[in-house]
Amino acid sequence: MKQYGVNELRKMFLEFFQSKGHLAMKSFSLVPHNDKSLLLINSGMAPLKPYFTGAEIPPCKRVTTCQKCIRTGDIENVGKTARHGTFFEMLGNFSFGDYFKREAISWTWEFLTEVVGLDKDRLYPSVYLEDDEAFDIWNKEIGIPAERIFRFGKEDNFWEHGAGPCGPCSEVYYDRGEKYGCGKPGCTVGCDCDRYMEVWNDVFTQFENDGEGHYEELQQKNIDTGMGLERLAVVVQDVDSIFDVDTIKSLRDKVCEFAGVTYKTDENKDISIRLITDHIRSATFMISDGIMPSNEGRGYVLRRLIRRAARHGRLLGIPGKFLSELSATVIEGSKDGYPELEEKKDFIFKVLTQEEDKFNKTIDQGLSILAGMESKMEAAGEKTLAGTDAFTLYDTYGFPLDLTKEILEEKGYTIDEAGFHAAMEEQRKRRAAPGK
Ligand code: ALA
Repeated sequence: MKQYGVNELRKMFLEFFQSKGHLAMKSFSLVPHNDKSLLLINSGMAPLKPYFTGAEIPPCKRVTTCQKCIRTGDIENVGKTARHGTFFEMLGNFSFGDYFKREAISWTWEFLTEVVGLDKDRLYPSVYLEDDEAFDIWNKEIGIPAERIFRFGKEDNFWEHGAGPCGPCSEVYYDRGEKYGCGKPGCTVGCDCDRYMEVWNDVFTQFENDGEGHYEELQQKNIDTGMGLERLAVVVQDVDSIFDVDTIKSLRDKVCEFAGVTYKTDENKDISIRLITDHIRSATFMISDGIMPSNEGRGYVLRRLIRRAARHGRLLGIPGKFLSELSATVIEGSKDGYPELEEKKDFIFKVLTQEEDKFNKTIDQGLSILAGMESKMEAAGEKTLAGTDAFTLYDTYGFPLDLTKEILEEKGYTIDEAGFHAAMEEQRKRRAAPGK
């Protein structure tokens, strides 16, 4: 199999679906438009919701995109594992009341096996428990033997993200081989280990969830597919993780160069290297979409990402500021798919530099105050930092709560989070009081 790069794979996907009558649209902004249910765009379908429900008329009934996405649900695991990340690109093809299961499944197969050239014998589809129609398409039309098709329940094969269009889905797993397996008896498709990697998800969008668990049948049947570009690249390039695929590896190498360290020589350093590599991607794309660091909403997500990355830079011993220089490598690697990165380069550098400067002014002082708090806890045999102390670090030294948490966790301490939020609320009330 040819080892295509990330930029090639993106192009191949969009061109393939254009050849099937799809309109290739530019990635939408990470900032949701008219959608209060989301802080940041987290999937290819999210900006297209009105087309699925029929509320708006799409420019074409068949659309394909490569959508920039951010998911921060697992942010505390980023860096600690080689598979978690906050930023990713999602390839997708969409039908708004046009084609349905048959075409979606057959194009999935054609793209993976004929265009990309993945080995058919390593691919395993799964379908929703009751979805005999999808099962039969895989079995009778594509020719996959029944014993290679897995049926899973709602947890795995029903796609929904809060409110909005949703439905049963069919996924495709790739067997990366025994070396990635857990070796436990019964390890097969659906196992938690890294052997069977889910690469593609075809959602048969038939319902609208009102967010309270009520499902209404949509008037039109739709298709929403999603394939993580970086994951596809992991499979195609036969590398260990997303941190080893071509464009992301260049970024990882740059972090190592700044820090003067070698990847895979020290697990703690690897955590910092991966975290910085991931967070600078998210931060660069967020700023290019006009998000500014702040103390609330998506601005706060950005601030956390930048400050966590800055702190891990310190842990690695990177002297001085480094984030804007690093974002130049993100831009270089991704401007092919996102020309706006190049256009907004100076602005991105400026925002990163200002935020890093701001944090650098207080980080040393904050760290030494925190060290004092740790000594006090140790002397008192305490394991939980008082919420008011965590709030002081936040309010005076600009330490986002999860940064303090992360630093303390490394040493076996926790935080009284309820106390932190109470202190924050207290301050909000004080500030809102007349005359303040
Ligand atoms: N919306 C589906 C997903 O994100 C395709 O997996």
